[in-house]
Amino acid sequence: MTILGIETSCDETSAAIIQGDKGQVVLKSNIIASSLALHATTGGVIPENAAREQVKYMLPTIREALEKAHIEMTDIDAIGVTYGPGLIGSLLVGVETAKTLSLVLNKPIVPVNHMVGHIYANFIDKSSDDIEFPAIALVISGGHTDLLLLKGHGELELVGGTRDDAAGEAFDKIGRLIGLPYPGGPAIEQAAKKGDPKRFRFPRPLIGSNELDFSFSGLKAAVLREVNNIRTMDEQTVNDIARSTQDAIIDVVVRKTMKAAAKFDVKSILLSGGVSANQALHDEFKAQSEGLGVKFFAPAKILCTDNAAMIASAAFYNYKPVPWQDITANPELYF
Ligand code: KG4
Ligand code: ZN
Repeated sequence: MTILGIETSCDETSAAIIQGDKGQVVLKSNIIASSLALHATTGGVIPENAAREQVKYMLPTIREALEKAHIEMTDIDAIGVTYGPGLIGSLLVGVETAKTLSLVLNKPIVPVNHMVGHIYANFIDKSSDDIEFPAIALVISGGHTDLLLLKGHGELELVGGTRDDAAGEAFDKIGRLIGLPYPGGPAIEQAAKKGDPKRFRFPRPLIGSNELDFSFSGLKAAVLREVNNIRTMDEQTVNDIARSTQDAIIDVVVRKTMKAAAKFDVKSILLSGGVSANQALHDEFKAQSEGLGVKFFAPAKILCTDNAAMIASAAFYNYKPVPWQDITANPELYF
């Protein structure tokens, strides 16, 4: 089955073609047009700017995805599209495009939850029995830090979430506090490489508690206090704060995920979402999963941040088409 994936929840416009067969997904093309450079000039995403960029990129992105996969529009069997959560103006561009294609081509649409999509980035180009259930999935992105128990495809249970800021949001806000460009995550990762891990020690909220929830607003407040106490913010200080911020976030998310893995006696740990592009986080997860004797999976770096391949993959493994008339973009969608 050939699926066209469409993803427009925030600032990336993406279209992808996957081939799904016998429980496996093969990636044929994955085109991502990002308006990040524009948002870097405003220090964050301004929703209306993002939506306008989506309109510009949507059709050329779909055309490029088809060309790269060497297929015509009529060759697709179904469309998978993100219908939430995200920015309403951005979401509408993808959803209405998918509905129009469905009507004109008479192809089924599978609406996909963006967060579930992130998890399914792990299933791309894997053999069908690589990932074993039950699995614990950490979705760690700009808007979410969620722990989900997966008993099988489509059998998801939310077992932990953030009480305030998401981990990616903490990276972005702290990045701004120390003068790094947007998005803060990749900038902090680079700065942290030259940072001294011992100069600052930031709090690790809820790390010792038995619950599986997260909280990052205290970390942001602690960094703000340091920043206010520092007279001159030189490059080394920025690097040192970046290092301790990254260490604190990694410590918390790894510890909570391992706790969840042990509690539910899982066979696999799945990392996903934009923050999982962080190499230090990835390495720590891999080491600790091995220590626990659990299989560890993380998407290829390009599939960690927003992309349509993961949406097409989720549509394949959770194939429940919905008539286009019944699909509505939902910015507040949760699990
Ligand atoms: O999944 P994503 O592309 O969009 C959302 O669904 O939110 O995630 C974006 C988030 C941003 O907060 C960004 O700072 C963070 O992922 N991020 C990173 C890295 N790359 C992206 N955080 C830490 N290290 C990175 N290398
Ligand atoms: Zn995302």
